[in-house]
Amino acid sequence: MQELTKKLIAEAESFTANTLEQIEEFKIRFTSKKNGELTKLFNEFKNVPVDQKKEFGQQINKLKEIVNEKINTLKEALEDQNTETGKLDLSAPADSNTIGSRHPISIVRNQILDIFKRLGFVVSEGPEIEDDWHVFSALNFPDEHPARDMQDTFFLERNTDVLLRTHTSSIQIRVMENQKPPIRTINPGRVFRNEAISARAHCIFHQIEGLYIDENVSFADLKQTLLYFAQEFFGADAKIRLRPSYFPFTEPSAEVDVSCSLCGGKGCKVCKGTGWLEILGCGMVDPNVLEANGIDSKKYTGFAFGMGIERITMLKFGVNDLRLYFENDVRFLKQFKSVIQ
Ligand code: DAH
Repeated sequence: MQELTKKLIAEAESFTANTLEQIEEFKIRFTSKKNGELTKLFNEFKNVPVDQKKEFGQQINKLKEIVNEKINTLKEALEDQNTETGKLDLSAPADSNTIGSRHPISIVRNQILDIFKRLGFVVSEGPEIEDDWHVFSALNFPDEHPARDMQDTFFLERNTDVLLRTHTSSIQIRVMENQKPPIRTINPGRVFRNEAISARAHCIFHQIEGLYIDENVSFADLKQTLLYFAQEFFGADAKIRLRPSYFPFTEPSAEVDVSCSLCGGKGCKVCKGTGWLEILGCGMVDPNVLEANGIDSKKYTGFAFGMGIERITMLKFGVNDLRLYFENDVRFLKQFKSVIQ
């Protein structure tokens, strides 16, 4: 018996295989429950004299280990070889592709642009690195306006007027320089302000600017355009309200609230009990702005509006921390997979 076991151990140790079938044959020969070599040896165990039982048992266990290990290593080697030589198992189920998702800011930007495109607005963009003229002077900002201060604006070089735009209103000026009225333009872009980063403020964010200039453009056109936008974006039940405000580049100016879509205007935590949420600033283009850009303010009038994309995204998706937009945490981004655009 001992002799046979040793022989089998030697055989198992030196066994090699080139195909799965050979490995399978080896497995059956040794491990088959019915008449495999191991089963046969275990069956012999009772006939072995008591003083030899211990050694015999150890030998059988050793053989069992060698056989199992042999089967595993030969299988692995064969699999490696198959992948290396391109002999892939074409019937194996394919790994599913990991599909990315759009950033929520891009989703909302595209949705807003699409709504205005349907009204005939044409998308234009402008540079992020700007100068004083396009960001402030041409927009009728007085010299002493606080927005011109280093506190709010990132200047790129000392004693120059090269700066990062603080709003997308500068694109209005770029468009007026290059086009004659009628003008209907919608301008998305990234803007920069010298703010400490927190859940509610960031030094980089996104805006969309709109400008419409033609003969006889009135405040009623502005209101109707914004109502159309609100109902397309927030739903057919959305209402808007305009509150008087001030911007240097529009006169009169207004801030626009939309009825809170979460509570339907009844008042909740998000709208702080008011039933309204502020979404944008707007107004009739100040004649000074038209004249500064070579447009006859006697002949033409226009309206403009500007909104923050982060804020509107927050209202749409309930994202309440601005920092999440910039951290690129895939767990955050993956949540927007199902939203197409
Ligand atoms: N530029 C303004 C801001 O950044 C937003 C704005 C308000 C744009 C009124 C406009 C407007 O075109 O008419 O806060």
